[in-house]
Amino acid sequence: MKKYGFFDDAAREYVITTPQTPYPWINYLGTQDFFSLISNTAGGYCFYKDARLRRITRYRYNNVPVDMNGRYFYIKEGSDVWSPGWKPVKNDLDDYKCRHGMGYTVIHGTKNKLAAEALFFVPMNFNGEVHKIKLTNESKKKKKFTLFSMAEFCLWNAHDDFTNFQRNLNTGEVEVDGSTIYHKTEYRERRNHYSFYTVNTEVAGFHSDRDSFTGRYNGFEAPEAVMKWKPGKSEAKSVGDGWSPIASHVIEVTLEPGKSEEFVFVLGYVEVENDDKWAKPGVINKKNAKAMIKKFNTASAVNKAMAEMKKFWDDLLSRYTVKSGDDKLNRMVNIWNQYQCIVTFNLSRSASYFESGIGRGMGFRDSNQDIAGFVHQLPDRARQRIIDLASTQFENGGAYHQYQPLTKKGNNEVGGNFNDDPLWLIYSVASYIKETGDWDILKESVPFDNNPATAKPLLDHLSASFHHVINNLGPHGLPLIGRADWNDCLNLNCFSTTPDESFQTCTSKDGKTAESVLIAGMFACIGKEYVRILKHLGKKAEAEVAQNHIDKMKKTILTAGWDGEWFVRAYDDNKQKVGSKECGEGKIFIESQGFCVMAEVGVDDGKAEKALESARKYLDTDHGLVLLNPAYTKYHVELGEVSSYPPGYKENAGIFCHNNPWIIIAETILGQGDNAFSHYSKIAPAYREEKYSELHRMEPYVYPQMIAGKDAKRHGEAKNSWLTGTAAWNFVTVSQWILGIRPDYDGLIIDPCIPSTWPGFKATRKFRGATFNITVKNESKSCKGVRCLTIDGKAIPGNTIPVFTDGKAHSVVVIM
Ligand code: BGC
Ligand code: NOJ
Repeated sequence: MKKYGFFDDAAREYVITTPQTPYPWINYLGTQDFFSLISNTAGGYCFYKDARLRRITRYRYNNVPVDMNGRYFYIKEGSDVWSPGWKPVKNDLDDYKCRHGMGYTVIHGTKNKLAAEALFFVPMNFNGEVHKIKLTNESKKKKKFTLFSMAEFCLWNAHDDFTNFQRNLNTGEVEVDGSTIYHKTEYRERRNHYSFYTVNTEVAGFHSDRDSFTGRYNGFEAPEAVMKWKPGKSEAKSVGDGWSPIASHVIEVTLEPGKSEEFVFVLGYVEVENDDKWAKPGVINKKNAKAMIKKFNTASAVNKAMAEMKKFWDDLLSRYTVKSGDDKLNRMVNIWNQYQCIVTFNLSRSASYFESGIGRGMGFRDSNQDIAGFVHQLPDRARQRIIDLASTQFENGGAYHQYQPLTKKGNNEVGGNFNDDPLWLIYSVASYIKETGDWDILKESVPFDNNPATAKPLLDHLSASFHHVINNLGPHGLPLIGRADWNDCLNLNCFSTTPDESFQTCTSKDGKTAESVLIAGMFACIGKEYVRILKHLGKKAEAEVAQNHIDKMKKTILTAGWDGEWFVRAYDDNKQKVGSKECGEGKIFIESQGFCVMAEVGVDDGKAEKALESARKYLDTDHGLVLLNPAYTKYHVELGEVSSYPPGYKENAGIFCHNNPWIIIAETILGQGDNAFSHYSKIAPAYREEKYSELHRMEPYVYPQMIAGKDAKRHGEAKNSWLTGTAAWNFVTVSQWILGIRPDYDGLIIDPCIPSTWPGFKATRKFRGATFNITVKNESKSCKGVRCLTIDGKAIPGNTIPVFTDGKAHSVVVIM
């Protein structure tokens, strides 16, 4: 199988060696408020906080060829025109390399012995992209050439920008001041923000009007302004006015043999005080922009900011590291899985090459799940996210399914009634407390539906979540499913026969019948954390009542939820089983097997083991476990979107990487380290990179949401990379359950469940201030079971490292 690059673990980079990857292989820039997507050919776009409402540069989705628009450079030497990132010009390069690293991307292109190296990143605490381009004359002759930049502005609201042409082909406005092009569309009226693109050198010309740049009949691959440019003879001064504003600089360069020159470009976003918007009538106040421009007016300032960012990532990635005999495992755990967790935490499911940034903001269930994979990195940000999420909960415990990151308000178009949502809040808060020991978060006063008058301590929100389940039980005593549970496509109350109707939001039945065994499993598994929290707070009576509800639910799962060889998935609106041997298609689903075993249902009587055996028998493939089997071949109106996908894709028997980990965790609970690792390595990208780069098609350094299942024509091909709950769940799985280093309320549990052939491994975990250097020795060649644990040479009973408040490093030895 063809490979398209390689991992450079020491540099924490994936190095792509051809621009012609099977799909754009992207990276993310930005850590706080300003974010960018950048592909290996410099495609992509950027935005401030909200990919829908504050889009800075324009992107053309679903284009031909794919990935049109980015921040593009053109080099014109004589009549040769080329781009260092190959696109958009697509002239053959003599050398090409793209290095995607932690928060930055470097693209090198060489042609005719002229080397261009373009670094792209978003510095820490900075609302803009910095592009540093280094040009080197590798020939023996003096070179004279022209460098052009190009960024196309979006008119802020990405949805409007793509739909409301009758208005927005009139509104574009720019100002040009020296080497800076300011994009100030709508600033005259209600906006107090603008953006700009600048370069730290004098320019020979500029364009701020797209049509003048491309020419009326050309595209970005052969813009007239570049193709026809004659140094010293041509003029470039087009001003964007209405139509489409862009920013392009024209820079003449002369390089002696062996010499280099560097230019720094800044593509920034600025907010201005409302009463200080204008320098003089019609002229925007550029003070804040000028400060940003000054900050990065030299290459050395850029290098300093890069070093600062590297320190940030070094610190984040030092909190959990593993040293095993397996490079692929090491690079997943130490670098890429953690990196993906952070990106996913930042952006939820809003902006990727599969999510337009227009449709979805922050998902309630999504973001709560993301916290578990992220909380050890930046716990304060996780805390804030929990508060933001809980603020969109309703008083009855339900929640808005999504909220907009800019306003933090629940999204009315989507609404609520996804009945798994409430439980995920308990899950995230429990993960947060286990990591930090910050019990005070429970006292934090948090409004319901963003209405300050309703504010209650966060603990009350957890209680509302828990009770939402028991207040909404169906005929069998299982939880009612609502619009859907985790599986957005199991729409048991939808009964949609109208094309164009969204399965997610269509009017549904009152929903008093259809039930979910997944929510039942979640209730038992996550509800247990609610009980432990109550106990810790000394609320014994409440804890007991809650525990009784859980015990009852577990019994119900074992009766109404057990199918003989596996757990049923649901009951539909006609009280018919979903995911049962009684069904013609969709006999077994993955979710209830994973979550019920995670809840330890049926562990004592062999049902749990049987369920996992069935998962292996009916769901497993070379590329991971499919979501259900057999795939639906017909549209089932009573099941909804799940049966709308062709067999093998997405929720209809695709390999959903998000819930493979539930089975893996379940295997570790039963001590099956060999099975657990086999499932893990089938979907982990680093393992797939070696075997399947071409078939897999997506980036080999991050998880995709879905790999086409065994019923699909393209079995093994992935889709929807980057923003998926897969990131957090796989990190939790490998770090806490396979390697077994798992935060708990009162300490750090060490309980590995690994392949029996492993001799052991070493890991470093920073936890509540102290650093633990852990050595695991698998002396008994078993999968699971800690026989002895010593800290700094002293044996302790059990396998939980207590909390150390000394902030020091401790050595831990674990014998299995
Ligand atoms: C997808 C789901 C997704 C949902 C979100 C569906 O079309 O199949 O994976 O969660 O849309 O709206
Ligand atoms: C992706 C969605 O973001 C998530 O909320 C959902 O649980 C899964 N798809 C499964 O449908």
